[in-house]
Amino acid sequence: MDVDRVLPLSPEDLHVPDAAPVRLRLVVLVSGSGTNLQALLDACADPAYPAEVVAVGADRDSILALERAATAGVPTFVLRVADFATREEWDTAFADAAGSFDPDLVVSAGFMKLAGAAFLDRFAGRYVNTHPALLPSFPGMHGAADALDYGVKVTGCTLFVVDAGVDTGPILAQAVIDVRDGDDVESLHERIKTAERELLVDVVSRMARDGWTVTGRKASIP
Ligand code: GAR
Repeated sequence: MDVDRVLPLSPEDLHVPDAAPVRLRLVVLVSGSGTNLQALLDACADPAYPAEVVAVGADRDSILALERAATAGVPTFVLRVADFATREEWDTAFADAAGSFDPDLVVSAGFMKLAGAAFLDRFAGRYVNTHPALLPSFPGMHGAADALDYGVKVTGCTLFVVDAGVDTGPILAQAVIDVRDGDDVESLHERIKTAERELLVDVVSRMARDGWTVTGRKASIP
């Protein structure tokens, strides 16, 4: 699969199935503890898993996620917004850094920055994000806390194809969990993250094996 042949995503339909590569090349973007990254690293350690993490990118130093990458022997790059004159320059540099690893798919896994135009143009249709709520409910930085505050009885996680909005892109997959009496943000988010890791590993595997399509708001894996 050469996704560049079928871009751009919008407004045209995107179709990325056909012959999948032996292993989908993943660049994973992180800002924190990196448990979702670890789940992918663990899955990719199995040669039968149809993807490999070729690089990990971050917007900050000194995070556990970068240690996880180093332990796995995966190259990393760190570009801090504060080190660039403008947000646009950072965005372009970040896109170039990720692009230098020639990814088939870029996975935002706890990456706490919104990608700008340069990044979205370059990776249109092949940039996905995992979010700790059932979108379109509770977008933004505090998905678990916002769901708890609202008093919903179920919440979960969403894997979606990133577009220019805040957590508004076409949804690839979701998993639902119950909100329990007595949950606090930490307990709820930890259960969400357990579901999130399983979903991420499973969906990336299916995307690698079967490809994926995005038609308007509908993202699907055949
Ligand atoms: C995950 O729950 C992810 O969905 C969330 O950060 C956590 C990262 O955990 N991302 C967002 O809230 C993005 N808006 P991890 O660093 O342990 O993988």
